[in-house]
Amino acid sequence: MAEPGYRAVSRRESRSLSGYKHACHLMVYGPDPGKLFGKIPLRYALLMQMRFDGKIGFPRGGFVDLRDGTLEDGLNRELSEELGCDPTMLCITESDYASSHATEGPAQKVVAHFYTKKISLEELHKVELSAVQAKDHGREVMGIIRVPLYTLRDGFGGLPAFLTNTFIGNAKEQLISALRTLRLLSEAELQAAISASRVG
Ligand code: IMP
Repeated sequence: MAEPGYRAVSRRESRSLSGYKHACHLMVYGPDPGKLFGKIPLRYALLMQMRFDGKIGFPRGGFVDLRDGTLEDGLNRELSEELGCDPTMLCITESDYASSHATEGPAQKVVAHFYTKKISLEELHKVELSAVQAKDHGREVMGIIRVPLYTLRDGFGGLPAFLTNTFIGNAKEQLISALRTLRLLSEAELQAAISASRVG
């Protein structure tokens, strides 16, 4: 599912598009056995970030110049600016690649490449701690956040309320698609959360 204006392209096809810039984004997640208020299963800790523009997106690899190496080389290089971690903490490889979407904005043509990486909760917590020390913290990144993956008894608190935020680019579609593809939520739970977010 892609937002209007975004069309899915294969990784290979994206390389042959001319005049497009390539941006990479990463969703890190890990199983979380904890319970909110001692009873609501948290299921997974999954990281997004509040950006400088007040929108929510995924940690970025910035624009990658394919003449300087692979998409993953660029992503690994740039991630340290936002997450403060080096490849010994978080090394993204082609096996973490999920999807690519092309869009033509008024100012630029962009292919957004999306990666997902499962790590342990302990590793994820280290990423959170290092993000506060990163170069971009308090500037381009206002803070790393965990996405609530549950729905509270009122039917709106949790993931539905989270989905009412303003997201950058197709980040919301990337999130929903990853929750579905990686089966982090059941299809029924996901559909219920999406519907509830529309009703508010
Ligand atoms: P910037 O992050 O504002 O420099 O945006 C560069 C490009 O990447 C723009 O086309 C944004 O819409 C896109 N972008 C930034 N963050 C995300 C994200 O998390 N998911 C998808 N696209 C993004």
